[in-house]
Formats: sequence, C-alpha cells, structure tokens
Amino acid sequence: MKNNIILLGFMGCGKSTVGKTLAKQLNFDFCDCDSLAEQRSKKTVSQIFADEGEAFFRKLETKIITELCSKQGQIIATGGGAVLNSQNVEALRNSGIVVFLDVSSETVLKRLSGDTSRPLLAREDKETAVKELMTARYPLYSKAAHITINANSDAEDVAKKIIDAFTSRI
Ligand code: S3P
Repeated sequence: MKNNIILLGFMGCGKSTVGKTLAKQLNFDFCDCDSLAEQRSKKTVSQIFADEGEAFFRKLETKIITELCSKQGQIIATGGGAVLNSQNVEALRNSGIVVFLDVSSETVLKRLSGDTSRPLLAREDKETAVKELMTARYPLYSKAAHITINANSDAEDVAKKIIDAFTSRI
C-alpha cells in the first residue's frame, strides 16, 4: 500500500501544479481539495464563501480531507487554510508524508497577480493581505509538515526536490 503525499502551503505555492506533476511521475492518484469542494457544491470557492460563508467552506473542507485520508496512494493538494483546523492536520499527518511548499510573499504576489479566485485576497491591498496571512500561518505550516521544500522555482524542479527529499529519508 502506498501512503499519501500531502502538499500544504500558502495560496499560490504550487500545491496543484506540483501535485499533478508528482502524481504523474510517481503513478499516484491526484486529489485537489478545492476542486472537490467545487464539484460537490457545484459552485466556485468564491461563490461558496459569498453564499454560505467561510465557516461552511471550512466544514466542507474538513469532510473532504477526512474522506481522502481514509484512502491511500494519493497526492493530496490541500487548500491553503487546511492547517487552521487541528483535526485536519492530525488526519493528514496520520495518512502519509506532509510536505510544506514554502514560498516567499514576492512569489505569491507574482503568481497571483490578476487572480480573482481567492476570496481571502480579494482586498484593495493584496500585498498586505498576503503578508499578514502568511506571517500568521507560517508556524502552522511548519509544524504540520514532515518535510519543508523551498517552492519558489517551477513545478518540475519542486517535484524533483520532493522526490530527492524522500529518497534521502529512506
Ligand atoms: C484558502 C486557500 C484556497 C481556498 C480558499 C481558502 C486559504 O486554496 O481553499 O480560497 O484560506 O488559504 P489554495 O491554497 O489552493 O488557493
């Protein structure tokens, strides 16, 4: 049985792109928590936040994480706020190796320039929103992760770094 590989980190750190690359290379299934939430509610994440509120989204996110953690052989791309709930973190850590994709605020701002799909960053001053949220969350990502990877480079390179890190753990 293959344990899961769980990617976590801030919005724009590359969880989905790196996850798809890794899944192909390792022949794992790829699961994206945000996409599953969107499929189930038939709404975008922004619409869920607007219509039902963040608390509703967080409950749905926990339900999806709990379900995914009962299976194996998956690369799981979490949403950037998954670490806010300790129940999520415990389930994820128990289901496989948790990898924190660590990026700078400059990388996030560059990658998400023009992006309108993140309700928590839909503010006039996006730079301040990114910096404040990142500072508050950094300790949560670090603590939740088994491995931290510098993810400021492209997806292929980050996937390679993750595989190298696994190889050196064996
Ligand atoms: C969130 C991150 C988003 C999405 C939602 C909330 C967060 O996912 O789950 O907008 O709280 O950081 P990505 O990290 O995939 O953008």
